[in-house]
Amino acid sequence: MELYVNQNRTLAKRDEMIFGHFLEHFHRQIYGGVFDPCNPLSDTDGFRTDVLEALKKIRTPIIRWPGGCFVSAYDWKEGVGKNRQPVFDKAWRVEEPNTFGTDEYALLCQKLGAQMYICSNAGTGTAEQMSDWLEYTNLEVGKYAQMRKENGHTEPYKVRYFSIGNENYGSWEIGAKEKHEWARLVTEAAKMLKRVDPEVQLSAAALSDADWTMELLTHAGRYLNWVSIHRYWDPIHTTNDHASYEKAMSYTCKLDSEIQKTQGLLVAMGLKKQIHIAFDEWNLQGWYHPGIHSAIPETDETKWLTPRDENDDNSQYTLADAVFTACVLNMFLRHADCVRMANFAPSVNTRGMIFTHKNGIVLRSTYHIFDLFVNQMGETIVDSWMPEQPVMTFTGPEGGPLQIPVLDTVATLRADGKTAISLINKSPADTVQISLSGCGKSGTLYTVTGENISVYNDIEHPDSVKITQRTLSITSPVTLPPHSVSVLVCD
Ligand code: AHR
Repeated sequence: MELYVNQNRTLAKRDEMIFGHFLEHFHRQIYGGVFDPCNPLSDTDGFRTDVLEALKKIRTPIIRWPGGCFVSAYDWKEGVGKNRQPVFDKAWRVEEPNTFGTDEYALLCQKLGAQMYICSNAGTGTAEQMSDWLEYTNLEVGKYAQMRKENGHTEPYKVRYFSIGNENYGSWEIGAKEKHEWARLVTEAAKMLKRVDPEVQLSAAALSDADWTMELLTHAGRYLNWVSIHRYWDPIHTTNDHASYEKAMSYTCKLDSEIQKTQGLLVAMGLKKQIHIAFDEWNLQGWYHPGIHSAIPETDETKWLTPRDENDDNSQYTLADAVFTACVLNMFLRHADCVRMANFAPSVNTRGMIFTHKNGIVLRSTYHIFDLFVNQMGETIVDSWMPEQPVMTFTGPEGGPLQIPVLDTVATLRADGKTAISLINKSPADTVQISLSGCGKSGTLYTVTGENISVYNDIEHPDSVKITQRTLSITSPVTLPPHSVSVLVCD
């Protein structure tokens, strides 16, 4: 197998925000996750220092918050001020203590050096309530700026990224909308938000579906900087019936179909230069929360509340997740011209890359993939090609045979001038030898893999999956282990 790299042909420069994160008020992402004031591992502001350190190591560029479905009935005013009252969270049917709100979120982002990306309530919320929230975060004057100052935060937070709504196209969402309702609400909300802060970058819940998004862009396109799209490839929200390794790899076929279709809509509307894609919720696995989105939700807690704890089972996050996640990051790099933000959903607990327990954290397999891509890959995508590519045949989602390319590679140029190439071997069993042309004579190979496709990290075995590295000559073929993700940094 031969891989050719042409460092002189730049394809695009990626935005660091494709390595973004998402945290929702769901299960243990916030409370007991990143925010755990009673835990001795937390700092004086209540944030888990081990979680902060792990998020700093992967240079978290942006965090989307507070939802997700949660936000579509959330009143941001209840999460600020000195007299926080618990409320009933109608999205997830649990008590929201409101001890973590906008000011705590702003502090979290400040501690990490991450941009704030607020997703606002366009379910029960109004254009005025959304724009009042932006007044609270970004203005020096007015009632809500005064409220922020009285809450002890004199300086505005200067939130740059603000989303109108979350999945308001979905019947599961509180305050779901028809396409024409959505277009009108986004238009009026965007108008007010831009009046509050003309520099705020606005996104709105969109789909790769033409019907919904053409209506949105026709009415509100002139105000928007982003369209927000989501995908959980393995839809196990009500079953927790995980895809096999082979099925997870079959999802890597046509991985960019949503991006292709959404980009096509932006081109058709002449908005490709003005509006970028924020893939602001993505993960292989859908979150497990049965009995909530049916017309009449379950009443037996063992059927809708306690099952959420099963998201905490670390054995579910194997090399299938690691290899799949790397393929998605490669996809974002290949589409760096239009996908300028992406947010792993979520970052802490649930299906996240970091699992917290009372005495520490577990870095799941997907964390090491982010560590590899953020810290070893470059920001400039350069041309690379393989004249021939091995394929493997799996059973496709429809049951028929599906041919899948074994290798997935992207070549980049780093700020230090070195070539860094992601080399993913999706085969569950076969080693691949790859010869490199145009990459010099030696390098360092950083690899994430494990003994078999089912390995995972947990409290007792935190390093079953980790990054290993070795220096090597690349004048002869490089060996890529099965089910592995590597980045070769050429000297
Ligand atoms: O399963 C979690 C939910 O997935 C998020 O709250 C929502 O945005 C998406 O539908």
